Order: sequence, then structure tokens, then C-alpha cells
Amino acid sequence: MSRIVYVNGDYLPEEEARVSVFDRGFLFADGVYEVTSVLGGKLIDFDGHAARLQRSLDELDMRRPVEMEELLAIHRELVARNDIVDGLVYLQVTRGAAADRDFAYPDQEVAPTLVLFTQSKPGLADSPAAKVGIKVISIADERWGRRDIKTVQLLYPSMGKMMAKAAGADDAWMVEDGSVTEGTSNNAYIVKGGKIMTRGLSNDILHGITRAAVLRLAREAQMEVEERPFTIDEAQAAEEAFVTSASTFVMPVVEIDGAPVGNGAPGPVAARLREIYLEESRKAAI
Ligand code: PDD
Repeated sequence: MSRIVYVNGDYLPEEEARVSVFDRGFLFADGVYEVTSVLGGKLIDFDGHAARLQRSLDELDMRRPVEMEELLAIHRELVARNDIVDGLVYLQVTRGAAADRDFAYPDQEVAPTLVLFTQSKPGLADSPAAKVGIKVISIADERWGRRDIKTVQLLYPSMGKMMAKAAGADDAWMVEDGSVTEGTSNNAYIVKGGKIMTRGLSNDILHGITRAAVLRLAREAQMEVEERPFTIDEAQAAEEAFVTSASTFVMPVVEIDGAPVGNGAPGPVAARLREIYLEESRKAAI
């Protein structure tokens, strides 16, 4: 059975879904996106993703295609139509298709493009990688300066993933001015003296929705949190390292540039945070 996707008001089999060749998402990467996870048929942290989407749109003077309640209804409809138990909903908004290719934004009357699709990932929360951890390499952060806006300009993160693959690793941590910004598609953390450390919020990183929830839950569980940048050397010498995102939740990192982190196995802090995050998220899922 073919997947049903949403395009500008219509639910269509994926083969029939179309966007214009003049769409600014295609021509200029003039678009923003969100990825929301689904566990047990319910959406995790939808409100956080909706709020960040609104912020991304505002930062780019882009029109919101539909009201947030409708967006929630579309997410739910797609989950239902595609029988998603565990998986992801991908949403993309672009500035739409102007009459011609022009660097200047078109008039506000041009309708934004709204596309959503699902990805089924049975057992998403029981990923085998979470039990053994992942390996990362460090690479220079060569992305643009507004990483707080979740745009579809993902070529450098894709290059980073390929560099990691070529080095026999799973992902890359990006480094700027000597300290780690984030992973190619996740936020990065270390644990030192039992304290959880992660870079503070700024334009240098994406303000992860999972990050916000994990830090809140860590503080509620009386774990110490410090929001500050750290270096690769510090990370290699840390007790633990991990990443967070909507697609991986809390994922231990066991090797950085070939050096084991701690004893080279997932540590107790990441394991505990993963457990608390999944438990609380399932409870709050809608
Ligand atoms: N990526 N940093 C970057 C650069 C990201 O692309 C992501 C998410 C995150 C984590 O954000 P959140 O916790 O809200 O998922 C941090 C998504 C999952 C993706 O591109 O597939």
C-alpha cells in the first residue's frame, strides 16, 4: 500500500504528490521544517515543535500556512491513514512558488507550500544503537550563522554524515572556535563529575525540543546541569557523552575521534535520562 502524504490541503498517494519546480524550497532552500516523533500512535512534544515552527517562520517573515490546531489535525490524520505506531512525522513549509526565480521574497499573497509525510519506524524507542552507543568524529562547523532557525539547508549536515560514514563512525560533532556546537542533526552533551554539560542556547545551535525536555527532566530529578560550551578534548576525557533529538531521543556516544568515552560503553546518566524522557514523553503524548 502506498504512503499517503499531505500537500497543500490534499491527502494523496505519494506517487501523485507534486510541488512546483518554481517552489522556493527547491530553488533557494527557502523553507523550514519540523520532525515530530510518534510512539504508540501518539505525537511526542507536539506543542514544542509547533512553537519552534512558528518561531522559524517569524524569523524568516514567512506566512503560516494553516492554524496550529489544523496542523495538529493533519499530523493525526497522517498517523492514522498510514497506520503509524512508532515513527516520525516530517513537516515542511516553504515560501511557495513565485511566478519566476527572484532572490527577493515574493509578495505575501503567494501561498506557502505545506508538505507533511510519515516515516514508519517500528520499535523506534528500542533502537539497538541505544544499548551500545554511537561513534562520532569531529568536523569543522561550516554551516551558516542562523542555526537557531530550522531551515531545510541541510547539505553541510549531509556532508558531515558522509564524512562520519567514511571514517567508520555514525555521526559527526561540529566544532567552531574550539568548542562543539552540536551534532549533524542532534544536540551534544557530556557528563563530567556527574554534571550534565551542553552548549547554551544562541544562534549557534538549533534549540532542540528534546534538549529542552531532557534538561527540565534532569533538573527535576536533581541532576546538575551546566549550559556551557565544551571542547573535543574535554568530551574525550568525560565520563559520558550523548546526543538528543526527536528521532534518537537520548543516544549515548561511546567514541569520539577514535577515543573511547569513559569505559567505551553507554553510561548510567544517559541511560537514566533516556528512560525518564521516554517514560514522561509517552505519558504526555497526544
Ligand atoms: N534534527 N540540532 C540539529 C542541527 C538538528 O537538526 C536537530 C533535529 C536537533 C535536535 O532537535 P529536536 O530535539 O527538536 O529534534 C539539534 C531532526 C530530528 C532532523 O533533522 O531529522
